[in-house]
Amino acid sequence: MKKRQNSSITVRRMDFSFDAKVPRYWADNSPFLTHTMNALSATFPVGERFFVDSVRHYRDRITNPQLKQEVSAFIGQEAMHAKEHESYNDYAAAHGFDMRGIEAEIADRIAFMKQNLSPERQLAITCALEHFTAIMAESMLTTPDMYENLHPSMAKLWLWHAVEENEHKGVAFDVYQEQVGDYWIRVRAMALTTLLFTFNQARFQTRLMYEDGQLFKPAAWLKGANRLWGRQGWFRKLIPAYLEYYKRDFHPWDSDTRALLDKWKAELQLDDNAVKKAA
Ligand SMILES: [Fe+2]
Ligand SMILES: [Fe+2]
Repeated sequence: MKKRQNSSITVRRMDFSFDAKVPRYWADNSPFLTHTMNALSATFPVGERFFVDSVRHYRDRITNPQLKQEVSAFIGQEAMHAKEHESYNDYAAAHGFDMRGIEAEIADRIAFMKQNLSPERQLAITCALEHFTAIMAESMLTTPDMYENLHPSMAKLWLWHAVEENEHKGVAFDVYQEQVGDYWIRVRAMALTTLLFTFNQARFQTRLMYEDGQLFKPAAWLKGANRLWGRQGWFRKLIPAYLEYYKRDFHPWDSDTRALLDKWKAELQLDDNAVKKAA
């Protein structure tokens, strides 16, 4: 089994609160980009608890002691992400956005998956979504255009989350390789997850824009769509990294982000919040 040296994984206690000083459109002053982030965040609390459950299912069977420790740190980090994004979702809901409706819809889907899919497939879906979060996070940490124009308290939340998604990007994958290891289940889950993830993300974004009275403003859509999918678009640039996942010998640490993580951990002074660490 191919297993690369992960970075250390640190569980940090965070406690974000977003007050009235955070503007309604905190991402580059743009309703479109703000709703892109709102749509993502609405799916995080329930989504990340699903990741935790799908990995925890295998915890007692893991033979590699280092991986076992990493699983505990992974669970600690994702639990903290779920908690902090709940706080973010409360902030967005206070602006009148229907975060609760999206959360409830995602919760229904996850309940359906838990009832109808095998633990192997649930873990494969988690690995697929962890690849999405890892490549989006890496892109955020390496693209000044993505983080420089965010409101400072929002930037701190999203950058902290991006750092930790990168720290633990290999954990669910290594559990999958050790406990399941089937290539076709892994890539089929990715293909299906890609369809559902992009479709849902577009649908939730449209819904939030509609409820916010922004749906029929073509300039906002064009500018936002160009930022995401244009020549230098944030999402468009992710396509090569996304496709790597389909290689038979892919591993999340093929992209070695340890130096990048060290830079951001220092910049954000994250290790002041450390609770425990898996090396
Ligand atoms: Fe997370
Ligand atoms: Fe994650």
